[in-house]
Amino acid sequence: MDALRNPYTPGAGTPPPALTGRDPELEQFNLLLGRLEAGRPEQSLLITGLRGVGKTVLLDAFEGIAIERGWYASFTEITSDTRLAKVIATMAREALLDLRRIERVKEAARRALAILKAFTISTGIGLEIRVELDVEEGIADSGDLGRDLGDLLTVVGEVAIEGGRGVVFLLDEVQYLGRRDFEALIAGMHRASRRSLPITVVGAGLPMLPRLAGEAKSYAERLFVFPHIGALSDEAARVALVEPAAEEGVTIEPEALERMLAYTGRYPYFIQQYGKHAWLTGKNDVIDVDAVERAHELVRSVLDADFFHVRFERATALEQRYLAAMATLGDGPRSSGDVTRALGYASTTETGTIRDSLIKKGLIYSPRHGEVDFTVPLFGDFMRRRHTLEGLAAD
Ligand SMILES: Nc1ncnc2c1ncn2[C@@H]1O[C@H](COP(=O)(O)OP(=O)(O)OP(=O)(O)O)[C@@H](O)[C@H]1O
Ligand SMILES: [Mg+2]
Repeated sequence: MDALRNPYTPGAGTPPPALTGRDPELEQFNLLLGRLEAGRPEQSLLITGLRGVGKTVLLDAFEGIAIERGWYASFTEITSDTRLAKVIATMAREALLDLRRIERVKEAARRALAILKAFTISTGIGLEIRVELDVEEGIADSGDLGRDLGDLLTVVGEVAIEGGRGVVFLLDEVQYLGRRDFEALIAGMHRASRRSLPITVVGAGLPMLPRLAGEAKSYAERLFVFPHIGALSDEAARVALVEPAAEEGVTIEPEALERMLAYTGRYPYFIQQYGKHAWLTGKNDVIDVDAVERAHELVRSVLDADFFHVRFERATALEQRYLAAMATLGDGPRSSGDVTRALGYASTTETGTIRDSLIKKGLIYSPRHGEVDFTVPLFGDFMRRRHTLEGLAAD
């Protein structure tokens, strides 16, 4: 069928035609903003989930909700080179420049910008703030990042409340923050949360976030909740596939839909891929079993090449063998001891560096101490089909 009218949107952070199955998280976010508006404390959200489940799309939706409620919202994707101080300072600067347009907070915003300037100087992040530095010393300039971030969030929150608005900073890929930065973020949130001001930081990242947070600061679970998102419910997955087609006057036959649900495992990214290709192979405004089967072949090669293979390629030969060993143990979390044995080593100390490097590259994560799993849904299946342990050993 006509590619021009194709409603499905496989991609990274590409808004789906129908954002289904995420009402609980959207409600949670609304509640968070509502409570902060009312001057009540509320735990912030760190959304967790595997690759391609819709974390970025959800953060985008949060941004939309915040703006609609009159909040100032800003979105940043963390990378392994990111310095948290710079990210927060940049967002704080934008927020203050925006708030400054409200006449009655002009002076408060100017003072906050001066404090921000002191922060940028003490952290040495080289962000230019054009404002006189005439503030009292001792706010956001101690050199202890957690403390200073807390001060900074507090000052911005004070300006926001005076202006009758709120400020939310959205951070994607939070697992890439270095340990010290992550610790400082939590400590800063802790310090700022004492005042119940309308300012918060909401994030998303891979499923190891709750563990990282707990390791960084024992009180992290009192500051954040960690909603986990994954495959859609049966109902939500059906709507995600059927509704966009129906809006274009296209029908998905019942048996065709069942197969799409099975092939996609109800994972959002796969849903968009199958939707897109079944649309292209469908004829006369109908997606039937035949169209889905032809799409299945296409999607598999697209996913193998674009989704799985690019990640596999990021691993060194040794790391690729580790991935293959994980795949031989079936799906779901496996103990690193079992993986080590499957590789033919005696002790996990011999595979520790390989494992850590794979975690750093974002290919695997550790759901619990001593366990590993893939960050990409269906990756084990890909490895078993394309790169077996025996095959890799022979290379
Ligand atoms: N609720 C949903 N219903 C249907 N499709 C969705 C939903 N959420 C996301 N998608 C689709 O899934 C794909 C992946 O979304 P997104 O990039 O937000 O995932 P992600 O979790 O951020 O992935 P990554 O970890 O790789 O960054 C996109 O094509 C998006 O359109
Ligand atoms: Mg993302």
